[in-house]
Amino acid sequence: MLENLEIAQNPTLKVPTAEKYYYIETYGCQMNVYDSELIGSLLNKCGYHPTDDIKSADAIFLNTCAIREKAEETVHNKLDNLQSLKNIKPGLLLGVVGCMAQNLKDDLLESKPYIDVILGPDSYRKIPEIINNRNSMEHYVDTKLSKFEVYDDMFPSRREGINAWVSIMRGCDKFCTFCIVPFTRGRERSRSIDSIKGEVIKAVEQGFVEITLLGQNVNSYRTSGGNFSDLLEQVAQIKGIKRIRYTSPHPQDIDERLIRVMNKYPNICNHIHLPLQSGSDRILNRMNRTYTKKKFLDLVHMIRDIIPDCVLSTDIIVGFPGESDSEFNETLEVFKKVSFNFAFMFKYSSRPGTKASEYSDHISEGVKQKRLETLIKLQRDITLLENQKKYRKNCRCIG
Ligand code: 5AD
Ligand code: SF4
Repeated sequence: MLENLEIAQNPTLKVPTAEKYYYIETYGCQMNVYDSELIGSLLNKCGYHPTDDIKSADAIFLNTCAIREKAEETVHNKLDNLQSLKNIKPGLLLGVVGCMAQNLKDDLLESKPYIDVILGPDSYRKIPEIINNRNSMEHYVDTKLSKFEVYDDMFPSRREGINAWVSIMRGCDKFCTFCIVPFTRGRERSRSIDSIKGEVIKAVEQGFVEITLLGQNVNSYRTSGGNFSDLLEQVAQIKGIKRIRYTSPHPQDIDERLIRVMNKYPNICNHIHLPLQSGSDRILNRMNRTYTKKKFLDLVHMIRDIIPDCVLSTDIIVGFPGESDSEFNETLEVFKKVSFNFAFMFKYSSRPGTKASEYSDHISEGVKQKRLETLIKLQRDITLLENQKKYRKNCRCIG
């Protein structure tokens, strides 16, 4: 009923003649999951229904990631596989959206001309227009980045579950030298507190009890109405939310007030994902990470002083250009000192267009692999210890 009403109110939306189905495959980070839900809501408005069966879909969108070479390879392989489907179903609309679309549109158009649509992360509003004018065009490409697009007025079509992802800001201005995100997602911009709260209230009414606030740099959130701590405090006061999480923050933008807000509200989870990236000051500087090992360790102490049982996780890159054995050992030492509960560990992957890709002292694949294995082994032991500590503590509570 509601959808028909919306079609009547908006003449640009086409009335479907037969049931049409869409399939979205999402790669990469949680922001992409959220964006796929936004794309889903736009397709619903065009009269399309979701399907889990890719073969029966009339429109397929791959929401892509460009953060490491491996992520791009996976999408290339998927697109190669989809060519045969496209051959037997010429009416099928095949779209590549997200970071890789932004980054590699020319390559994609040249190597895979059967792709119909390429849209960057700020161009999803074009989807209804593309669907409605489909017959009149061959390729539709829009990868313009916007300084303002935050999809403030849209409500994502969420899958069932307990957790609702809520994007609060988009883009990144940090320009870590290894990272493609500032190029694929553009400049930092924040949604208003009111619109975020409106979305959260609606999600809670729909039955979601866990809210995860999302942003490429979630705690750089800043509006005239307040900063990230203000927002978190206001979201925590919304009735019916059992758990609030946020990801991913930058250590530079974490302050004592944020930790105190986390400590004050029992529905804000005691977990901070604190990406370290490297334990060596020289490498951190080369990465443009804007903090030192000491600052990072001081931050960990401050967090644990206020929230002693705060779960800490991290991201780390091994084999960044120029990383020596002793600099890698410094990362191992920081891991031992902090004792993260868990960690996402990556081998450095050179991303064309980033500053680090131009450094001349890249590390061999063999060395990167060995360092990664060493770090994974260390973290496995640390995670086990931390889990045992939590288990013992919980047993005491029950006993
Ligand atoms: N190579 C390897 N890992 C990377 N990350 C970002 N860019 C790269 C890269 N070029 C990692 C960082 C970041 C996480 C999301 O992905 O650790 O925090
Ligand atoms: Fe990439 Fe650094 Fe921005 Fe994170 S803070 S998205 S690693 S540039």
